[in-house]
Amino acid sequence: MSTNRTFTMIKPDAVANGHIGSIINDFTNAGFKIIALKYTKLTDETAGQFYAVHAERPFYKDLVSFMSSGPIVAAILEKDNAIEDFRKLIGATNPAEAAEGTIRQKYAKSIDANAVHGSDSDENAEIEGNFFFKADERF
Ligand code: CMP
Repeated sequence: MSTNRTFTMIKPDAVANGHIGSIINDFTNAGFKIIALKYTKLTDETAGQFYAVHAERPFYKDLVSFMSSGPIVAAILEKDNAIEDFRKLIGATNPAEAAEGTIRQKYAKSIDANAVHGSDSDENAEIEGNFFFKADERF
């Protein structure tokens, strides 16, 4: 069942480069409603848990160390067709392949420092949202 919700993080590179405001503006201009929002920092341990699905991938160690290198913004967003529309809005995982006007094309520098995360399925959006937000932190 589609929940019409997705989960995102504005990653340490985009936060450090001062893009929080512009990126949230892009979310809302594209019709996404903010259900939950948090400025926080992952530790090596929590980043490792969040990305556990990638534990066997060669980039896992670098990913975990990058994602715990500075503060992030975590959010749950809502819109019809949220997963697919959000992935279109952010563009390809590798910013070199991201379409013109997408968030990663505008703000990301590399496949590791790729500005934002977006859930790849309704199931993962639910799991990832639950990782950061309790029921009484969603509005
Ligand atoms: P994200 O959508 O947050 O999910 C996993 C992250 O791993 C991905 O964005 C990239 O930033 C990072 N990553 C690094 N190398 C790769 C790769 N070869 N394929 C996919 N993701 C990668």
